[in-house]
Amino acid sequence: MSARLLVALNGSPVRGSSVDLLLRAACAGAEEAGGRSEHVYCNELSVRPCQACGPEPTTGYCVFHDDMDRIYELLRDAHAVTVGSPVYFDTVSAQLKLVMDRCNCVTPLVRAPGGGYDLRPLWKRTRHGLFVTACSTGQRHDFAERSVRGFLKWVGAKWEETIVWQHDDADPGSVATRPELLARARAAGRRMIESAPLEA
Ligand SMILES: Cc1cc2nc3c(=O)[nH]c(=O)nc-3n(C[C@H](O)[C@H](O)[C@H](O)COP(=O)(O)O)c2cc1C
Repeated sequence: MSARLLVALNGSPVRGSSVDLLLRAACAGAEEAGGRSEHVYCNELSVRPCQACGPEPTTGYCVFHDDMDRIYELLRDAHAVTVGSPVYFDTVSAQLKLVMDRCNCVTPLVRAPGGGYDLRPLWKRTRHGLFVTACSTGQRHDFAERSVRGFLKWVGAKWEETIVWQHDDADPGSVATRPELLARARAAGRRMIESAPLEA
C-alpha cells in the first residue's frame, strides 16, 4: 500500500512567500509522519477557466484537458488536502480560483430520474482539509475561508483548521518570524497523515 498523500494547492505567485512557507511546513509534517506530499504551485499551471458547461457535460472530469488532468488525479488520491492562498481583494487569489472552479465537475449536478437535479459527488468525503492564508493586520480572511471550505467539501474533504498569518510588513516570507505558526502547520500536516480516513 502506498503512503498516504497530502496535496498542497498553493495560490500564491511568490516562491518563498508566507503561504508557501506554511504549505512547505504542512508537507514536511506529512512526510515526518510517513506520508508523501505534492506541493502544487497554481501560478505555474496551464489551466483554462471553467466554462460552466452544465449538467452531465462529459464522462471524464472536464471537457478541457490541460494541467487539471494531473490535479484531478492528485486530489482523487489525496488523504489530506491543504489549500493555501494569500487574501486578494478579500478572497482567494485568481491562480487558486481557476483550479477551484475547474473542480466543480467533481460534484456534478445531474438530472434526477423523477425530474429536477441532484448533486452527485464522485468521491466520498473522507479527506482531511486545512486552509493556510496570509493577509494584512485588521483585514478579513473569512470570505477566503468560506470559499475554500466550500471547495474542500466539493472535492471530498472536510475542513478542520485555518492557519492565518496577519502582518503589517511587505516582506515575502515574513511568517518565518513566527515559528509557532510554522510549527502549527507542520503539526497539522503530521496529524492529518496520522489520522484515519474520515467517515464519509
Ligand atoms: C492583488 C492583491 C490584492 C490584495 N488584497 C488584499 C486584501 O484584500 N486584504 C488583505 O489583507 N491583503 C491583501 N493583499 C496583501 C496580501 O494578502 C498579503 O501581502 C499576503 O501576505 C500575501 O501572501 P503571500 O506573501 O504568502 O503571497 C493583496 C495583495 C495583492 C497582491
